[in-house]
Amino acid sequence: MSFKLLVSAVIAVVVGYYWLNYVKRGPIYESDKKLNGRTVLITGGNSGIGKATAMDLAKRGARVVIASRNLKKSNKVKDEIIKESGNHEVRAMQVDLEDFDSVRKFAKEFDESEKHLDYLVNNAGVLLRGMAQNGLNRIFVTNYFGRFLLTNLLLGKMKKQSAERPVRIINLTSDLYKYVEVKESDMTRDAEGYFDSCFMFGQSDLANIQFIHNLSRKLKDYDVTVYIFNPGFVYTEGYDDNHDLQELIFDAPMFLFGQDVYYGYQPLLKLVLDDSVVKHNGGLFTGFRHDELLPHATNESSWEPLMRKSLEVTGLSSP
Ligand SMILES: NC(=O)c1ccc[n+]([C@@H]2O[C@H](COP(=O)([O-])OP(=O)(O)OC[C@H]3O[C@@H](n4cnc5c(N)ncnc54)[C@H](OP(=O)(O)O)[C@@H]3O)[C@@H](O)[C@H]2O)c1
Repeated sequence: MSFKLLVSAVIAVVVGYYWLNYVKRGPIYESDKKLNGRTVLITGGNSGIGKATAMDLAKRGARVVIASRNLKKSNKVKDEIIKESGNHEVRAMQVDLEDFDSVRKFAKEFDESEKHLDYLVNNAGVLLRGMAQNGLNRIFVTNYFGRFLLTNLLLGKMKKQSAERPVRIINLTSDLYKYVEVKESDMTRDAEGYFDSCFMFGQSDLANIQFIHNLSRKLKDYDVTVYIFNPGFVYTEGYDDNHDLQELIFDAPMFLFGQDVYYGYQPLLKLVLDDSVVKHNGGLFTGFRHDELLPHATNESSWEPLMRKSLEVTGLSSP
């Protein structure tokens, strides 16, 4: 073998090792904690991070409810989870976060039919163009307003329950919140291209963070703690349905640089299972790391107008 070939082979092995272990893989959350008797609601639990989390928590004995639009797909995933985990306490429900009537119907049905709600994981989210039937941008309404409404509708149940057993709420977001401000005028317009969609996505993240951060203050007298989780880059189904060149250009590197889902959901497990996170109530976790929020996300004066808008849009009388 020539020297050049040998050097190339060594470089390929080193790069391959680095890529596999530090890009596609990551740390594992190790715990044998069981969740028997606990109920977890995961929106978007039929795909990606939500599905992987649902499977893991079912294996730990939790009652798991997965909820999203496509009930047929959710039922298939439910069967898969039951088969692999051996846990029959898995339920699939239908909810469309774009449609407030659907969210209200879902919350009522959940409240009436489920005895407990110990963990609410607001995971369902989209990065797509288009407007919802109610005239709101689909990213804003799915990733923020729908979650805001759902969380508030279930808050009474969670508060009541917290007198006897603790409750956690976890909302998924991304790093894009750092680069934006929430603009009311953007809530009712379609994105002009893929990069503009990412801008909208960042705004919906910021709105979520402001909501969750302020919720922690409001819930200080209850044993309900709330967390914001940024999974980083995780290669999920959301990245393999490209609709145009911009999307393809942006999403293609996700295959190379996005973590495998198995590693991407591990920090979320910590937020559900670990007691050490409670001291960061209302805080942001980027992967396993607790991160300080930027000031524009914690500013109470910018939450006030957003809260008023959120109440007006969702038709809630008080948060
Ligand atoms: N993957 C990443 O790199 C990354 C990075 C930062 C943040 N995040 C956030 O993490 C979360 C999970 O991401 P993922 O990549 O695992 O997602 P994904 O695989 O694309 O799955 C999205 C889920 O949301 C559900 N969903 C979409 N629209 C909905 C609606 N209107 N109402 C109810 N459910 C709806 C989908 O189910 P149906 O089609 O059945 O409705 C699906 O289960 C998202 O909030 C995402 O924004 C992900």
